[in-house]
Amino acid sequence: MICTAHILAHKINNFLTSQALAHCNMELPQINQVHRLLIAFLLFLLATLVLSFPFEPPGNVRQWHMTSDVKEVAGKSYDYIIVGGGTCGCPLAATLSEKFSVLLVERGGSPYGNPLVIERRNYGIPLLETDKYMSVAQSFISQDGVGNVRGRVLGGSSAINGGFYSRASEEFVCRAGWDKKLVKEAYEWVESKVVFPPFYLSPWQSVAEFSILEAGVLPYNGFSLEHIKGTKISGSVFDEFGKRHTSADLLNAGNPKNLTVLINTTVKRILFHHNSYRNETRAKGISFMQSNSTLDEAHEAYIKEVQNSSSRGDVILAAGALGSPQLLLLSGIGPKEQLRRFNISLVRDIEGIGKGMQDNPCIAVLVDSKPQDRLPDPPQIAGITDDYKIIVEASILPLSSNSTRVNVAAKIAMPTSKGALHLNNTDPRLNPSVRFNYLASENDMEECVKMTKLLDRIARSKSIAFFLGESRQEKLTSADVDLRNFCKKNVRTIYHYHGGCTVGSVVDEHYKVYGLKGLRILDGSTFSESPGTNPMATLLMLGRYQGLKILSERNAVSDSNAKDKTK
Ligand SMILES: Cc1cc2nc3c(=O)[nH]c(=O)nc-3n(C[C@H](O)[C@H](O)[C@H](O)COP(=O)(O)OP(=O)(O)OC[C@H]3O[C@@H](n4cnc5c(N)ncnc54)[C@H](O)[C@@H]3O)c2cc1C
Ligand SMILES: *[C@@H]1O[C@H](CO)[C@@H](O)[C@H](O)[C@H]1NC(C)=O
Ligand SMILES: *[C@@H]1O[C@H](CO)[C@@H](O)[C@H](O)[C@H]1NC(C)=O
Ligand SMILES: *[C@@H]1O[C@H](CO)[C@@H](O)[C@H](O)[C@H]1NC(C)=O
Ligand SMILES: *[C@@H]1O[C@H](CO)[C@@H](O)[C@H](O)[C@H]1NC(C)=O
Ligand SMILES: *[C@@H]1O[C@H](CO)[C@@H](O)[C@H](O)[C@H]1NC(C)=O
Ligand SMILES: *[C@@H]1O[C@H](CO)[C@@H](O)[C@H](O)[C@H]1NC(C)=O
Ligand SMILES: *[C@@H]1O[C@H](CO)[C@@H](O)[C@H](O)[C@H]1NC(C)=O
Ligand SMILES: *[C@@H]1O[C@H](CO)[C@@H](O)[C@H](O)[C@H]1NC(C)=O
Repeated sequence: MICTAHILAHKINNFLTSQALAHCNMELPQINQVHRLLIAFLLFLLATLVLSFPFEPPGNVRQWHMTSDVKEVAGKSYDYIIVGGGTCGCPLAATLSEKFSVLLVERGGSPYGNPLVIERRNYGIPLLETDKYMSVAQSFISQDGVGNVRGRVLGGSSAINGGFYSRASEEFVCRAGWDKKLVKEAYEWVESKVVFPPFYLSPWQSVAEFSILEAGVLPYNGFSLEHIKGTKISGSVFDEFGKRHTSADLLNAGNPKNLTVLINTTVKRILFHHNSYRNETRAKGISFMQSNSTLDEAHEAYIKEVQNSSSRGDVILAAGALGSPQLLLLSGIGPKEQLRRFNISLVRDIEGIGKGMQDNPCIAVLVDSKPQDRLPDPPQIAGITDDYKIIVEASILPLSSNSTRVNVAAKIAMPTSKGALHLNNTDPRLNPSVRFNYLASENDMEECVKMTKLLDRIARSKSIAFFLGESRQEKLTSADVDLRNFCKKNVRTIYHYHGGCTVGSVVDEHYKVYGLKGLRILDGSTFSESPGTNPMATLLMLGRYQGLKILSERNAVSDSNAKDKTK
C-alpha cells in the first residue's frame, strides 16, 4: 500500500511537471480553459486514487508452457488449436484453457525480454527495423502503394502498436448482435489485467489535447474508456513504468496446465477430414513448420477425438486480417479460380474469402519543421468529431534511432471503400497481396477533405505554436491547395485494416466458417467495419467474449449428453 501510494505520488508529480510545461507556454486567451481542464483533470486523478484503479505491478510470473520445439507438439492432440498468438488469439486461448487443452501456435518469437516490444521509449522503432522473416513487425505495401505493418510476435499487433485502448461504441456492439452484459464483463476482464489509466500525460499529449479542443472538438470528457464525441484521454497498455503489456500477458489468466504455447512456428495449412457418409468436411488439425526452416518441413497436430463428434473442439484461426484469409486460401478454402492459379486443391469454394478488405484512411501532419531528439510518445488522447466520423490522435514517432517528429493524425472512422486480398505465392511466411482502394468512394474523399481541414486548424493552433515556437510550426496547407489532390497523394494507414473473412460472408454469428465443421475465425478479419474507434480493445474483448461463449455452449452440450445417459 505504501509502495502504491508512493508510486502514485510520484506519478502526480510527473503529471504536474508536464502540465506545468504545457501551462507555461499558454497565453491569456487559453488560460481560463486550461485552468478548468487542469482542475478537472486533477479531480479525476484524485478520484482515481480514491477508487484505487486496479493496479498491478508489472512482470507477472509466467507459468504457462512456452516452447519453440516443434517436435514437442508434433503428433499430439488438443481440444482446441488456435493459430496466431495475437491480440484476439491470446485472450481466447487463456479462456478456453480454463476447461480444455489448448495449443496456441505463433509464427513469431517471445515478447518477454525484448526491449523493442516492452519499452515505451521504443514505440515505433520496430516499424523501422523490419526484415523478411524474423522481425517483430512484418512490413507490407498494399497494391495502393501504401506502406503498412503486421505484428509477428507473441502478442501480435498489440506488441508493436500505439497501445491506445478505447472500447467500441454501443451502436457497434448492438449491430454486432453481441450480449451487452457479457461484452462489458469481457472488457473489464481485459482492463483489469493489461490496461492502465493515464497517471502521466506527456507534455506533447497535453498540448495536442488543448489544440484539438481549440479546433472545436468538444466537449472535453477527461478520462474515459468509452467511445464518446469530444476530446478525451483514454487507456493504454503501457503502464506507469513505461512497460507495454501485450495480449500475451492475458495468458497468465489461463490454466497453465492445459495451455501449450508454440512460438517461432508458422502454420502452413489446416488439415481436413471428409466424412463421405455424412457428406461433411471437418478441420482435424494443422500442418506447421519452424518459421526459420525450409518450406519442405512439415509437422502435424490434431484436434482430440471425442466419442460424440458434435461436442468436439475446433481449429480457430486468429492470424489477423491478412493471416487468416491467407491461411484459408493456402488450405484450399476460397474462390476456386484463385486456388487453381496456385495449384491448390479445392476443399471448399467460398467466394467471400479475401473480400471486403478495408483500411481506415489516415492523414498525418508533422507539425514541427524538422526532426528533433524527443522521446517517442504513443497516443493517449483522442478527438472524436460530433458525427463520430473523424478521429484525431497525436504522437511522436521515431524516424531513426535518434530522431523523432511530432505529429497529429486523423482517420476516417467509417470508410465505405473496400478492396480485396489475393495470394501472391504459396509461402505462408510471406505477405499475400492486398488492395484497400483508399478514398475510392466519393464519401471517403469528402470525409478526407473535411479531415484535412480539421487537421489544418489543429496544426495552426496557438497551443501547438506555443509548444514548438512559431518558427518551428509546420503549416499544413495554403488556402489554394487542392485538398482532394492532397488527400490522394498523402493518404496513409493508421493500421486499423480489417476484413477478409467477414461475419455473414465467411463466418456465421458464432464465428464458424460456413459449410465446414470444426473451424472458426476470431480476429480483425471478421470485422466488416472497424469498431469506430481503434480496434485493439474490441479484439482483446472479443477473444475473451467468444471464449466464454464456447465454454458455455459446450457446457450445455455436455449437460444434455449427461441427461441422455441417465435416461
Ligand atoms: C503499428 C500499429 C499501430 C497500431 N496502433 C493501435 C492503437 O494504438 N490502438 C488500437 O486500438 N489499435 C492499434 N492498431 C491496430 C491493432 O493493433 C490491430 O487491429 C489488432 O492488434 C489486430 O489484432 P488481430 O488479433 O486481428 O491480429 P494480430 O494481433 O496481428 O494477430 C495475428 C497473429 O497471428 C500470427 N500469425 C499470422 N499468420 C500465422 C501463421 N500462418 N502461423 C502462425 N501464426 C501466424 C501473427 O504473427 C500475429 O501474432 C495498431 C496496429 C499497428 C500495426
Ligand atoms: C485439461 O483439459 C481436459 C479436457 O481435455 C480436462 O479433462 C482436464 O481435466 C484438464 N486438465 C487440467 C489439469 O485442468
Ligand atoms: C525465436 O526466433 C527468434 C528470432 O530468430 C530468436 O531470437 C529466438 O531465440 C527464438 N526463440 C526460441 C525460444 O527459440
Ligand atoms: C455434399 O455437400 C456439398 C456442400 O454442401 C454439396 O455441394 C454436395 O452436393 C453434397 N453431396 C452430396 C452427395 O450430397
Ligand atoms: C531455427 O531456430 C532454432 C532456435 O529457435 C534453431 O535451433 C535452429 O537451428 C534454427 N534452424 C535453422 C534452419 O536455422
Ligand atoms: C501448376 O501446375 C502446372 C502443371 O503441373 C504447372 O505448369 C504450373 O507451373 C503450376 N503453377 C504454379 C503456380 O505452381
Ligand atoms: C543521430 O545519429 C547519427 C549517427 O549516429 C548522427 O549523424 C546524427 O547527427 C544524429 N541525429 C541527431 C538528431 O542527434
Ligand atoms: C506479387 O507481388 C508482387 C510485388 O508486389 C507483384 O508485382 C505481383 O504482381 C504479385 N503477384 C500476384 C500473383 O499477385
Ligand atoms: C451428441 O451430442 C448432441 C448434442 O448434445 C446430441 O444431440 C446427440 O444425441 C449426441 N449423440 C450421441 C451419440 O451421444
